[in-house]
Amino acid sequence: MNATTTAAAKPAAKESVTLTDNQNNKAVNLPLLPGTLGPKVVDVRKLYAETGMFTYDPGYTSTGSCESKITFIDGDEGVLLHRGYPIEELAEKSNFMEVCYLLLYGELPTEAQKAKFEEGVTRHTMLHEQMHQIFRGFRRDAHPMAVMCGVVGAMSAFYHDSTDITDPRQREIASYRLIAKVPTIAAMAFKYSIGQPFVYPRNDLSYAENFLHMTFAVPCETYKMNPVLAKAMDRIFILHADHEQNASTSTVRLAGSSGANPFACIAAGIACLWGPAHGGANEAVLAMLKQIGSKDRIPEIVKRARDPKDDFRLMGFGHRVYKNYDPRAKVMQKTCYEVLNELGMTNNPLLETAMELERVALQDDYFIQKKLYPNVDFYSGIILQAMGFPTSMFTAIFALARTVGWIAQWKEMIEDPAQKIGRPRQLYTGATKRPYVPIARRA
Ligand code: SDX
Repeated sequence: MNATTTAAAKPAAKESVTLTDNQNNKAVNLPLLPGTLGPKVVDVRKLYAETGMFTYDPGYTSTGSCESKITFIDGDEGVLLHRGYPIEELAEKSNFMEVCYLLLYGELPTEAQKAKFEEGVTRHTMLHEQMHQIFRGFRRDAHPMAVMCGVVGAMSAFYHDSTDITDPRQREIASYRLIAKVPTIAAMAFKYSIGQPFVYPRNDLSYAENFLHMTFAVPCETYKMNPVLAKAMDRIFILHADHEQNASTSTVRLAGSSGANPFACIAAGIACLWGPAHGGANEAVLAMLKQIGSKDRIPEIVKRARDPKDDFRLMGFGHRVYKNYDPRAKVMQKTCYEVLNELGMTNNPLLETAMELERVALQDDYFIQKKLYPNVDFYSGIILQAMGFPTSMFTAIFALARTVGWIAQWKEMIEDPAQKIGRPRQLYTGATKRPYVPIARRA
């Protein structure tokens, strides 16, 4: 089988790839579809019908699963755009509510649009009072991600008036409810784990301030909001908001493709994000930095990470797409300094270990050859711990911020006229057909 690219005759500059099956002396022409940015795709939708063969790409290293206009990543250049806007500019000049609007509707909002959107989200932050009982079914030491999976999934049992995915208005209400209530649920999971009373959302606070207030305020005294920490929280939300077709977003799209309700789809995304290879890495980075302890153990750790026989990996390093520095990690590192300075923790031993680990790894030929750089998870945990969050809350915060990205991608899929249920095939290497053997005659 070989592939040659032929440019179609002018003027329709449609290109195609011809696959030739030498065994059967057959050739199939597959269209090349160009995007506005990034690689072209080979449209293989008719491959099976015309050749009786599948493509094979476990882990989807070379597969585009959908068409999208939301987020673009150039892994070689370390570029991340949301609806065309660079993440560095959004982190510097925008705020999370505005980025939510941009991801959902495709354009930055006008003053009036932003005010209406923010009001809509603010008015949906309270959780149905009956749902408070669900928390009581968990052990106090349940991982917050287990609680998030359960409670977000249970939202489909309480908000029946926004589960009909064919109704645009219900889709919009469900989107607002999820963006608004996930911070409340995450904060309640934390409060439940430490035996403190739930703190209700307040409509006079910003999205990030509300989350800090629900997490750290107690009924016995007035919570003093630190504007530097609130700004850092808002920026951390922006940095985690969306990231193209990552594992959890692909999970949400696949669940949504069957017509499942949005609450169930987001619960599926939360479950997938929990893995240490994905959103669970921020928690794993802190555990690794604590395990390293002092800087003089770093050469030993890097040696383990290089050893193909050792399944140890440097958490917070490497990425399927970025073969350059994750642009989010650069902003996260800057935010780390701001928060530690504000809190008078500039000689934070974890940060010192992280900085030295980054310095050594980036000069190591293994990491250079494999193009492994710090990713979004490498510094976020240091900031969150300094702000007072336990490591068990780190991935819950990632899930909180990523909910808008999951919803925006789910909405785009549902509204795509070409959308159909996702149903991949396989390369079967199991037993061929054989007759049943009664138990008496088995060896
Ligand atoms: C996120 O997809 C997204 O966009 C995700 C995310 C998002 O916003 O949604 O960006 C969030 O999940 C960030 C990634 C967080 N995970 C970690 O930090 C865990 C540590 N990183 C690795 O597990 C790994 O880098 C992955 C999972 C992130 C990417 O793995 P890939 O793309 O499958 O790459 P790979 O495992 O094939 O690695 C390529 C090579 C391998 O060596 P060889 O088999 O070629 O010999 O690089 C090595 C790996 O062994 N390698 C590492 C390494 N990461 C990859 N070696 C040591 N330490 C590492 N961290």
